Amino acid sequence: MLEGKRILLVIGGGIAAYKALDLIRRLRERGASVRAVMTAAAHQFVTPLSVASLSGDKVYENLFSLTDEAEMGHIELSRDADLVVVAPATANLLAKMANGLADDLASTLLLATDKRTLAAPAMNLRMWLHPATQRNIAILKSDGVAFVGPNDGSMACGEFGPGRMAEPLEIVAAIEAALAADTELPLQGEQSHSLSLKGRHVLVTSGPTHEPIDPVRYIANRSSGRQGHAIAAAAARAGAHVTLISGPVAIPDPAGVTTLHVESAQDMLKAVEASLPADIFVSTAAVADWRVARSSEEKIKKGAAGTPTLTLIENADILATISNRPADRPALVVGFAAETEKVLQHAQEKLGRKKCDLIVANDVAPETGVMGGDQNTVHLVTTAGVESWPKLSKVDVAERLVARFATMLGAQL
Ligand SMILES: Cc1cc2nc3c(=O)[nH]c(=O)nc-3n(C[C@H](O)[C@H](O)[C@H](O)COP(=O)(O)O)c2cc1C
Repeated sequence: MLEGKRILLVIGGGIAAYKALDLIRRLRERGASVRAVMTAAAHQFVTPLSVASLSGDKVYENLFSLTDEAEMGHIELSRDADLVVVAPATANLLAKMANGLADDLASTLLLATDKRTLAAPAMNLRMWLHPATQRNIAILKSDGVAFVGPNDGSMACGEFGPGRMAEPLEIVAAIEAALAADTELPLQGEQSHSLSLKGRHVLVTSGPTHEPIDPVRYIANRSSGRQGHAIAAAAARAGAHVTLISGPVAIPDPAGVTTLHVESAQDMLKAVEASLPADIFVSTAAVADWRVARSSEEKIKKGAAGTPTLTLIENADILATISNRPADRPALVVGFAAETEKVLQHAQEKLGRKKCDLIVANDVAPETGVMGGDQNTVHLVTTAGVESWPKLSKVDVAERLVARFATMLGAQL
């Protein structure tokens, strides 16, 4: 899978730089070639001699090197690869990437590249959890940068928590997954030209719903909202006016999108109906099928009344409701089918039952790691048949789906 692939590895200045040496070995063992770029700070942690010995190539370090620029200029360097990998991705490098800074060779090529970037962050847990770093991560994710790690664990600084760089073999697996997708990045202008949803209103639901039992307790599910939010962000990048109706999630609102926050399935339906008309409705949210028939106004107390029994009643089906609206049904109605068994069969039944144009089916059995994870393997189910996509990051799934929506909508006009 890595045979013949060209990896451009940017090594940042963190303690975990020593793991980059092992990563180079692992990649070369698998037949990939590695060209390395080191930041000035990286030299404090590993030597260019070690990196060059392991990669079998010279190490690129200086933006203003006359010889390097003559042999392989920084623009060529940034493009002559199948994937750009930043490991360790320091807080500083991530901040520069998120803000488009280009003041050394590493940051300049990260801005100039036309290939996707995979970052393996590594830093002290307070640096990782700092709102500035989390903001930068959210920006980079919405820009399409893929991430692996960081992991929880003990750190060189003696603290314990998130911030440890992913292990070399985990990074190898993430590189293989990233390479399975198309790693060529279209220019923003080209992208919005070819995938234009300009002037369209795209309505997306995302995340779980919370169904109240009493004022402090609720029934929920494991949806993280990552796929729905990524679709909203991708539609906005394609020029659409996007309304995102989000259930309770722990991820930031996407940039350039109008986001409305709701709790329950009933609230979500009301918000969706109030946001119509729309050209495209994408029902990504994991809406609760049932709610508690009579949720209590007061917190239910333990005691004389014994163990409470919850009676559930069915929630309205948002996808079917919107798909069957006589006057203002969106031209394209897309549902998601998250199943743990017989994925395609259930998706095909759902397509007919709910009268939508496309069902995006995915297997959310616990062993797949899809619920809450960064990756997704989806099947597109229409009346014409089934199209299965390889395992992709949720951001890549979103970009491809939005391109497909634009094509389907165009075909209807
Ligand atoms: C001993 C030591 C360890 C460090 N480890 C990290 C680290 O793991 N992650 C990080 O983001 N910064 C770390 N830093 C800080 C970076 O080296 C510093 O922010 C530097 O400017 C990063 O430069 P670069 O992003 O160009 O590589 C460390 C600094 C020292 C002195």
